[in-house]
Amino acid sequence: MSTPRERLITEEDELSVTTKETSNHESDSRENGNHESDRLDSSNESDVEDKQLLDEIALRQSIMMSDEQLIEWIKSRRTIGNLQEPAPTHEQIRAAIDCAVTAPDHKKLRPWRFIISEGEARQQLGQALLEAAEAQAARAGETLSDKTRKKTANLPMRAPVIITVVTKMQEHKKVPPFEQMLSAGSAVQNLLLALMAQGFGSVWRTGLLCNEPAVKDYFDVAADDYVVAFIYTGTSPKPKPGRKPMDIEPLLRFES
Ligand SMILES: Cc1cc2nc3c(=O)[nH]c(=O)nc-3n(C[C@H](O)[C@H](O)[C@H](O)COP(=O)(O)O)c2cc1C
Repeated sequence: MSTPRERLITEEDELSVTTKETSNHESDSRENGNHESDRLDSSNESDVEDKQLLDEIALRQSIMMSDEQLIEWIKSRRTIGNLQEPAPTHEQIRAAIDCAVTAPDHKKLRPWRFIISEGEARQQLGQALLEAAEAQAARAGETLSDKTRKKTANLPMRAPVIITVVTKMQEHKKVPPFEQMLSAGSAVQNLLLALMAQGFGSVWRTGLLCNEPAVKDYFDVAADDYVVAFIYTGTSPKPKPGRKPMDIEPLLRFES
Protein backbone atom coordinates (compact mmCIF):
# COMPACT_ATOMS: atom_id res chain seq x y z
CA MET A 1 0.00 0.00 0.00
CA SER A 2 1.37 3.42 -0.88
CA THR A 3 2.01 6.07 1.74
CA PRO A 4 0.31 9.49 1.43
CA ARG A 5 3.66 10.89 0.31
CA GLU A 6 3.96 8.26 -2.41
CA ARG A 7 0.38 8.90 -3.49
CA LEU A 8 1.15 12.60 -3.67
CA ILE A 9 4.16 11.92 -5.92
CA THR A 10 2.02 9.66 -8.12
CA GLU A 11 -0.61 12.37 -8.30
CA GLU A 12 2.11 14.83 -9.30
CA ASP A 13 3.08 12.53 -12.21
CA GLU A 14 -0.56 12.10 -13.15
CA LEU A 15 -1.02 15.82 -12.96
CA SER A 16 1.64 16.48 -15.58
CA VAL A 17 -0.11 13.92 -17.86
CA THR A 18 -3.51 15.47 -17.14
CA THR A 19 -2.23 18.94 -17.84
CA LYS A 20 -0.82 17.79 -21.18
CA GLU A 21 -4.06 15.97 -21.99
CA THR A 22 -6.07 19.02 -21.07
CA SER A 23 -4.10 21.22 -23.45
CA ASN A 24 -4.54 18.63 -26.22
CA HIS A 25 -8.29 18.57 -25.59
CA GLU A 26 -8.32 22.32 -25.62
CA SER A 27 -6.69 22.53 -29.03
CA ASP A 28 -9.06 19.80 -30.38
CA SER A 29 -12.00 21.73 -29.07
CA ARG A 30 -10.75 24.98 -30.49
CA GLU A 31 -10.49 23.33 -33.88
CA ASN A 32 -13.98 21.83 -33.61
CA GLY A 33 -15.52 24.96 -32.11
CA ASN A 34 -18.20 22.83 -30.33
CA HIS A 35 -19.66 23.13 -26.75
CA GLU A 36 -17.44 26.07 -26.02
CA SER A 37 -19.18 27.13 -22.79
CA ASP A 38 -19.26 23.56 -21.38
CA ARG A 39 -15.59 23.22 -22.13
CA LEU A 40 -14.80 26.49 -20.37
CA ASP A 41 -16.78 25.46 -17.25
CA SER A 42 -15.06 22.09 -16.88
CA SER A 43 -11.69 23.60 -17.73
CA ASN A 44 -12.15 26.18 -14.94
CA GLU A 45 -13.02 23.43 -12.47
CA SER A 46 -10.00 21.36 -13.41
CA ASP A 47 -7.78 24.47 -13.23
CA VAL A 48 -8.91 24.97 -9.62
CA GLU A 49 -8.30 21.29 -8.79
CA ASP A 50 -4.87 21.41 -10.47
CA LYS A 51 -3.97 24.51 -8.51
CA GLN A 52 -5.06 22.90 -5.24
CA LEU A 53 -2.96 19.84 -5.96
CA LEU A 54 0.06 21.92 -6.96
CA ASP A 55 -0.32 23.99 -3.77
CA GLU A 56 -0.42 20.80 -1.72
CA ILE A 57 2.68 19.43 -3.44
CA ALA A 58 4.50 22.74 -2.92
CA LEU A 59 3.49 22.73 0.76
CA ARG A 60 4.70 19.18 1.31
CA GLN A 61 7.96 19.89 -0.53
CA SER A 62 8.58 23.07 1.44
CA ILE A 63 8.06 21.24 4.75
CA MET A 64 11.09 19.08 3.91
CA MET A 65 10.25 16.60 6.64
CA SER A 66 9.80 12.93 6.21
CA ASP A 67 6.58 11.40 7.51
CA GLU A 68 8.57 9.92 10.41
CA GLN A 69 10.14 13.30 11.25
CA LEU A 70 6.74 14.96 11.16
CA ILE A 71 5.34 12.36 13.56
CA GLU A 72 8.34 12.82 15.88
CA TRP A 73 7.79 16.58 15.75
CA ILE A 74 4.15 16.21 16.78
CA LYS A 75 5.20 13.91 19.61
CA SER A 76 7.79 16.43 20.78
CA ARG A 77 5.13 18.91 21.91
CA ARG A 78 5.55 19.63 25.59
CA THR A 79 3.94 21.98 28.04
CA ILE A 80 6.30 24.78 29.07
CA GLY A 81 5.40 26.85 32.11
CA ASN A 82 8.13 29.50 32.09
CA LEU A 83 7.03 31.85 29.31
CA GLN A 84 8.40 35.29 28.53
CA GLU A 85 8.71 37.82 25.74
CA PRO A 86 8.93 37.71 22.79
CA ALA A 87 5.29 36.82 22.44
CA PRO A 88 3.71 35.79 19.16
CA THR A 89 2.76 38.78 17.04
CA HIS A 90 -0.86 39.32 16.01
CA GLU A 91 0.04 37.87 12.63
CA GLN A 92 1.51 34.75 14.26
CA ILE A 93 -1.53 34.44 16.53
CA ARG A 94 -3.80 34.70 13.50
CA ALA A 95 -1.76 32.01 11.73
CA ALA A 96 -2.20 29.73 14.75
CA ILE A 97 -5.94 30.38 14.93
CA ASP A 98 -6.20 29.80 11.18
CA CYS A 99 -4.84 26.36 11.97
CA ALA A 100 -7.11 25.88 15.02
CA VAL A 101 -10.24 26.43 12.95
CA THR A 102 -9.37 23.56 10.62
CA ALA A 103 -10.25 21.18 13.47
CA PRO A 104 -12.88 18.56 12.69
CA ASP A 105 -16.19 20.40 12.93
CA HIS A 106 -19.41 18.49 12.28
CA LYS A 107 -21.77 20.58 10.10
CA LYS A 108 -19.29 23.44 10.18
CA LEU A 109 -20.86 25.01 13.23
CA ARG A 110 -17.61 26.72 14.27
CA PRO A 111 -18.43 26.16 17.91
CA TRP A 112 -15.46 28.10 19.25
CA ARG A 113 -14.21 31.64 19.80
CA PHE A 114 -10.73 32.94 20.65
CA ILE A 115 -10.03 35.90 22.90
CA ILE A 116 -6.48 37.20 23.06
CA SER A 117 -5.37 38.89 26.28
CA GLU A 118 -2.09 40.76 26.28
CA GLY A 119 -0.63 43.79 28.05
CA GLU A 120 -2.96 45.33 30.62
CA ALA A 121 -5.87 43.13 29.54
CA ARG A 122 -4.15 40.39 31.56
CA GLN A 123 -4.64 42.46 34.70
CA GLN A 124 -8.33 42.84 33.93
CA LEU A 125 -8.55 39.08 33.45
CA GLY A 126 -6.76 38.73 36.81
CA GLN A 127 -9.50 40.84 38.41
CA ALA A 128 -12.18 38.58 36.90
CA LEU A 129 -10.36 35.53 38.29
CA LEU A 130 -10.13 37.21 41.70
CA GLU A 131 -13.85 37.99 41.65
CA ALA A 132 -14.52 34.35 40.76
CA ALA A 133 -12.27 33.10 43.56
CA GLU A 134 -13.99 35.36 46.08
CA ALA A 135 -17.42 34.14 44.97
CA GLN A 136 -16.28 30.53 45.22
CA ALA A 137 -14.84 31.11 48.69
CA ALA A 138 -18.00 32.92 49.81
CA ARG A 139 -20.12 29.95 48.74
CA ALA A 140 -17.92 27.76 50.94
CA GLY A 141 -18.29 30.26 53.80
CA GLU A 142 -14.62 31.26 53.56
CA THR A 143 -12.62 34.39 52.84
CA LEU A 144 -9.42 34.62 50.86
CA SER A 145 -6.11 35.55 52.46
CA ASP A 146 -4.25 38.56 51.04
CA LYS A 147 -1.62 36.19 49.71
CA THR A 148 -4.19 34.14 47.80
CA ARG A 149 -5.90 37.28 46.51
CA LYS A 150 -2.61 38.61 45.15
CA LYS A 151 -1.63 35.25 43.67
CA THR A 152 -5.00 34.84 41.96
CA ALA A 153 -4.98 38.34 40.48
CA ASN A 154 -1.50 37.69 39.10
CA LEU A 155 -2.25 34.33 37.48
CA PRO A 156 -2.52 35.78 33.95
CA MET A 157 0.86 37.47 34.29
CA ARG A 158 2.58 34.10 33.87
CA ALA A 159 2.90 34.62 30.11
CA PRO A 160 2.91 37.63 27.76
CA VAL A 161 -0.15 36.36 25.87
CA ILE A 162 -3.14 34.24 26.82
CA ILE A 163 -5.43 32.88 24.13
CA THR A 164 -8.69 31.92 25.77
CA VAL A 165 -10.75 29.38 23.86
CA VAL A 166 -14.46 29.34 24.63
CA THR A 167 -17.25 27.29 23.14
CA LYS A 168 -20.03 28.89 21.15
CA MET A 169 -22.28 25.90 20.82
CA GLN A 170 -25.33 25.83 18.62
CA GLU A 171 -28.49 23.78 18.75
CA HIS A 172 -28.32 21.23 16.00
CA LYS A 173 -30.27 18.01 15.83
CA LYS A 174 -27.32 16.10 14.37
CA VAL A 175 -24.53 17.66 16.41
CA PRO A 176 -25.00 17.28 20.15
CA PRO A 177 -23.09 19.51 22.59
CA PHE A 178 -20.50 16.85 23.36
CA GLU A 179 -19.39 16.81 19.69
CA GLN A 180 -19.06 20.56 19.67
CA MET A 181 -17.04 20.42 22.86
CA LEU A 182 -14.70 17.83 21.32
CA SER A 183 -14.34 20.02 18.25
CA ALA A 184 -13.25 22.85 20.53
CA GLY A 185 -10.68 20.53 22.15
CA SER A 186 -9.35 19.61 18.72
CA ALA A 187 -9.08 23.28 17.84
CA VAL A 188 -7.00 23.81 20.97
CA GLN A 189 -4.60 21.01 20.03
CA ASN A 190 -4.15 22.52 16.55
CA LEU A 191 -3.52 25.88 18.19
CA LEU A 192 -0.80 24.42 20.42
CA LEU A 193 0.93 22.75 17.47
CA ALA A 194 0.73 25.88 15.32
CA LEU A 195 2.26 27.94 18.13
CA MET A 196 5.02 25.36 18.49
CA ALA A 197 5.59 25.43 14.71
CA GLN A 198 6.28 29.16 15.02
CA GLY A 199 8.75 28.62 17.87
CA PHE A 200 6.54 29.42 20.86
CA GLY A 201 5.99 27.48 24.05
CA SER A 202 2.56 27.09 25.57
CA VAL A 203 0.53 25.71 28.45
CA TRP A 204 -3.10 24.62 28.26
CA ARG A 205 -4.63 25.66 31.58
CA THR A 206 -8.15 25.78 32.85
CA GLY A 207 -8.27 25.68 36.66
CA LEU A 208 -11.28 25.59 38.95
CA LEU A 209 -12.17 29.22 38.31
CA CYS A 210 -12.46 29.12 34.53
CA ASN A 211 -16.20 28.46 34.40
CA GLU A 212 -17.20 30.57 37.39
CA PRO A 213 -19.86 33.16 36.40
CA ALA A 214 -17.44 36.08 36.86
CA VAL A 215 -15.04 34.60 34.31
CA LYS A 216 -17.75 33.56 31.86
CA ASP A 217 -19.25 37.06 32.09
CA TYR A 218 -15.84 38.58 31.48
CA PHE A 219 -15.53 36.63 28.22
CA ASP A 220 -19.21 36.99 27.35
CA VAL A 221 -19.70 33.22 27.46
CA ALA A 222 -23.31 31.99 27.53
CA ALA A 223 -24.62 29.89 30.42
CA ASP A 224 -24.53 26.67 28.35
CA ASP A 225 -21.07 27.36 26.97
CA TYR A 226 -17.64 26.82 28.48
CA VAL A 227 -14.21 28.29 28.80
CA VAL A 228 -12.25 25.28 27.57
CA ALA A 229 -8.71 26.63 27.57
CA PHE A 230 -6.44 29.39 28.69
CA ILE A 231 -3.50 28.94 26.34
CA TYR A 232 -0.58 30.72 27.96
CA THR A 233 2.04 31.36 25.29
CA GLY A 234 5.37 33.08 24.79
CA THR A 235 9.02 32.17 24.58
CA SER A 236 10.66 29.71 26.93
CA PRO A 237 14.21 30.49 28.05
CA LYS A 238 14.83 26.73 28.21
CA PRO A 239 14.45 24.03 25.58
CA LYS A 240 11.38 21.91 26.03
CA PRO A 241 11.94 18.72 27.99
CA GLY A 242 11.89 15.31 26.33
CA ARG A 243 9.20 12.78 26.96
CA LYS A 244 9.61 9.20 28.17
CA PRO A 245 8.35 6.74 25.58
CA MET A 246 4.82 5.69 26.40
CA ASP A 247 3.57 2.14 26.14
CA ILE A 248 0.45 2.38 24.01
CA GLU A 249 -0.22 -1.37 23.92
CA PRO A 250 -2.54 -1.46 26.96
CA LEU A 251 -4.54 1.35 25.34
CA LEU A 252 -5.40 -0.30 22.08
CA ARG A 253 -7.04 -3.30 20.54
CA PHE A 254 -7.04 -4.21 16.87
CA GLU A 255 -10.15 -5.99 15.69
CA SER A 256 -10.49 -7.67 12.34
C1 LIG B 1 -8.55 20.66 29.40
C2 LIG B 1 -7.20 20.72 30.08
C3 LIG B 1 -7.02 21.57 31.14
C4 LIG B 1 -5.80 21.64 31.81
N1 LIG B 1 -5.65 22.51 32.85
C5 LIG B 1 -4.46 22.59 33.49
C6 LIG B 1 -4.27 23.54 34.53
O1 LIG B 1 -5.17 24.30 34.87
N2 LIG B 1 -3.07 23.56 35.14
C7 LIG B 1 -2.05 22.72 34.77
O2 LIG B 1 -0.98 22.78 35.37
N3 LIG B 1 -2.19 21.84 33.76
C8 LIG B 1 -3.37 21.76 33.10
N4 LIG B 1 -3.54 20.87 32.07
C9 LIG B 1 -2.43 19.94 31.74
C10 LIG B 1 -1.32 20.57 30.94
O3 LIG B 1 -1.80 21.39 29.91
C11 LIG B 1 -0.41 19.48 30.31
O4 LIG B 1 -1.12 18.80 29.30
C12 LIG B 1 0.12 18.50 31.28
O5 LIG B 1 0.88 19.16 32.25
C13 LIG B 1 1.00 17.43 30.61
O6 LIG B 1 2.12 18.01 30.01
P1 LIG B 1 2.44 17.83 28.44
O7 LIG B 1 1.43 18.67 27.72
O8 LIG B 1 3.84 18.29 28.27
O9 LIG B 1 2.28 16.38 28.13
C14 LIG B 1 -4.73 20.81 31.39
C15 LIG B 1 -4.91 19.97 30.29
C16 LIG B 1 -6.13 19.91 29.64
C17 LIG B 1 -6.29 18.99 28.45
